Amino acid sequence: MAVDWFRHLNEALGPILLDAETIQNRVVELALQITADYQGRTPHLIGVLKGATIFHADLIRAIGVGVSVDFIAVASYGSGIKSSGEVRILKDLDESVEGKDVLLVEDILDTGLTLHYLLENLQSRNPQSLRVVTLLSKPSRRQIDVHADYVGFDVPDKFVVGYGLDFDQRYRNLPYICELILPPGTIADL
Ligand code: IMP
Repeated sequence: MAVDWFRHLNEALGPILLDAETIQNRVVELALQITADYQGRTPHLIGVLKGATIFHADLIRAIGVGVSVDFIAVASYGSGIKSSGEVRILKDLDESVEGKDVLLVEDILDTGLTLHYLLENLQSRNPQSLRVVTLLSKPSRRQIDVHADYVGFDVPDKFVVGYGLDFDQRYRNLPYICELILPPGTIADL
């Protein structure tokens, strides 16, 4: 299998934290909760590129009410692992969110700086409602108090890759989420 090949070639991949089945089961649970909460409405699911793409695609297919979708791309990390604390919009939404029931779909909530920025930005565009679903959260890393309405998994303070999450644009295609063991010295930057 291509994925195992990849693992063999790269010694930086550490233990699997969440296997594919565990992720899929939790995505379905989140989708059931969202389906119940949005009865009679059409949630507008905004995926945050690029990390949330896999989660977004699986989540919308498991939701049992009609949805609309859009995407936004922000830069909060460069090609490494350290947050700059600065958030910029690289690609804005295609459509207005005014009057819509927006559900922002994030891959991981780390310091919270990206989500804080996105929530303020989207709120200023007058949606009908604004909620957040994040697949992962690292509560111990939070620098700003920000709330996610739906959280897939709390994870420890480890750098993780797979299921959309990258390191230097790699590993997004792994079907599981695993720790990335970084070369000595890299961690000192965190
Ligand atoms: P925050 O602004 O610090 O909350 O960072 C959020 C963004 O940082 C996420 O959307 C990811 O793109 C990236 N990020 C944070 N932690 C990780 C990780 O462990 N692996 C991969 N990307 C991460």
